[in-house]
Amino acid sequence: MTGISNLPEIDFSAAHYRKAPLSTLAGYAKRFKLARSERGVEILDYDLCRDVIVNRRFGTAHPGLMALLGMPEGPALHYKRHSISFHNRGETRRRLRVPLTTLMSPKSSEQFRNGIRQVVHETLASLPRDRPIDLIAALCDPIPSRVYCYWVDAPMADADFIARSSHIVQQVHTRNPETTQAVTESFKALLEYVDRRIKAVRQAPSDSLLSQLIRAAETGQLSEDDLRNWVVKLAEANTDNSSHQIAIAVIELSSRPEIWAMLARDPSLVPQALREVMRYHPRSLSTSRETLEDVNLAGVSLPEGTAVFANIGAAYWNENYFPNPDQFDINRPDKPAHLNFGGGVFSCIGRFAVTIEIEEVIAYMVAHFPALRITKSVFSHSAMFTSVTALAAVLDG
Ligand code: HEM
Repeated sequence: MTGISNLPEIDFSAAHYRKAPLSTLAGYAKRFKLARSERGVEILDYDLCRDVIVNRRFGTAHPGLMALLGMPEGPALHYKRHSISFHNRGETRRRLRVPLTTLMSPKSSEQFRNGIRQVVHETLASLPRDRPIDLIAALCDPIPSRVYCYWVDAPMADADFIARSSHIVQQVHTRNPETTQAVTESFKALLEYVDRRIKAVRQAPSDSLLSQLIRAAETGQLSEDDLRNWVVKLAEANTDNSSHQIAIAVIELSSRPEIWAMLARDPSLVPQALREVMRYHPRSLSTSRETLEDVNLAGVSLPEGTAVFANIGAAYWNENYFPNPDQFDINRPDKPAHLNFGGGVFSCIGRFAVTIEIEEVIAYMVAHFPALRITKSVFSHSAMFTSVTALAAVLDG
C-alpha cells in the first residue's frame, strides 16, 4: 500500500488543462487511476469514480468546504448545516430526500413537462432573430430561473434575482475564501425571499411543486425548517448548473450542422443527443466526497477526512469504457451508466426535470432556428465545472 504523497500530481491551473481539459484528463487516466492535486485526491478511472460516488465509506464534503471558506455563524451557515448537503448517509438524509425524490421522480418530473415547455416557448418566441444576441442573458439564465418561478408559483419577474443568486452561491465550489462574503449575503437574501414565497403560497395553494412540498410539511414529512431549506436548495442548485449545461448543449449541437438538421427532422433523437453532449462535454467535471474512515482505495491509503474527487470528465473520456471518446457520437450505447448527476444517496434531485428542460430547449431550437449561427462562444474549465462565459448567436443565421 502506498500513501497520498507518492501519487502523481495534477495541476488544474496548467495551460494544457485550461486549453483542452477533457483530452488532458484522458491522458492522465491512461497513465494512472489516482492522483493528487491542491484540493485533494483525484480519481480518474470510471469504475473507481463510481465506487467512490456510491460507496458508504465516502460521505459529503460540504462541511469541510464551509470550514475551508470560513463561512461565519449566521443564517447562511445555519441553512447549510441543516440542509441536505451536510448530512451523511443515515436516517436524516433518507427522511429529507424522500419527499423530493418522490416529487421529482422520472414520472413526477414528466408532469412538469408542459409547464417547462410553456416557459421555453414564451422565452424563445420573443427573441430577435436577425442580429447577434447574448444567449446567456436571453436563454440560458432565464429558462432555469423561470422554471424555478413556475415551481414556486412566483412572478416571472423574480427570475433575474433567482439566476443571480444561484450563480453567486455556487461560487462555494471555487474553494476561494474571497467569495465567502458574497455567498453568505446571497444565501441570506434567498432565505428571506423563500420565506415570503412560502407565506404567499400558503395563502393561495395550487398544484405547484411548492404547494406539494408545503403539503408534505403539513403531513409531518418535513419540518418547517426542512421545507424552507429545500426551497432554498432548489434555487441554489438549479440555475447555475442548468444554465451552463444548456449553453454547452447549444454550442456542441449547433456547431455540428448535420446533427442539428437531423434533430429537426427527427426530434425523438434529442434525448440521446443530449446524453452524448453530457458525456462529451459535461457541466460537472467532478463531484466531491470525503473519506468517513481510513480507506484503502486501489492500494492507496486514504486517512479519514481526506477530500476525494471523482473526475467524471476523465471517466467519460476513458477509451476503456467509451471507445473513441473524442468522437461525438449520438448513437453510443447507454452503458456504462452516466455519472453527470453523481449517484446513490447523494445523487442530483433535479436530474430528470433538468433533462426534460434541456430536451425542450433543444427541440424548440432545432425546429425554429434551423440556421442558427454561433458568433461567439467562450468556455472556461475549472477542476469542478465546465462553464460558458460568453455565448452569442444569430438565430436566423
Ligand atoms: C444540468 C444541470 C445540473 C447538473 C449538471 C447537476 C449536477 C449535480 C451533481 C453532480 C450533484 C452531486 C451528486 C453527487 O455527488 O452524487 C448534484 C446534486 C444536487 N442537485 Fe443537481 N445538477 C443539475 C441541476 C439541478 C437542478 C435543476 C436541481 C433542482 C431542481 C438540482 C438539485 C440538486 C440537489 C438538491 C443536489 C444535492 C442532492 C443531495 O445532496 O442529496 N440539480 N447535482
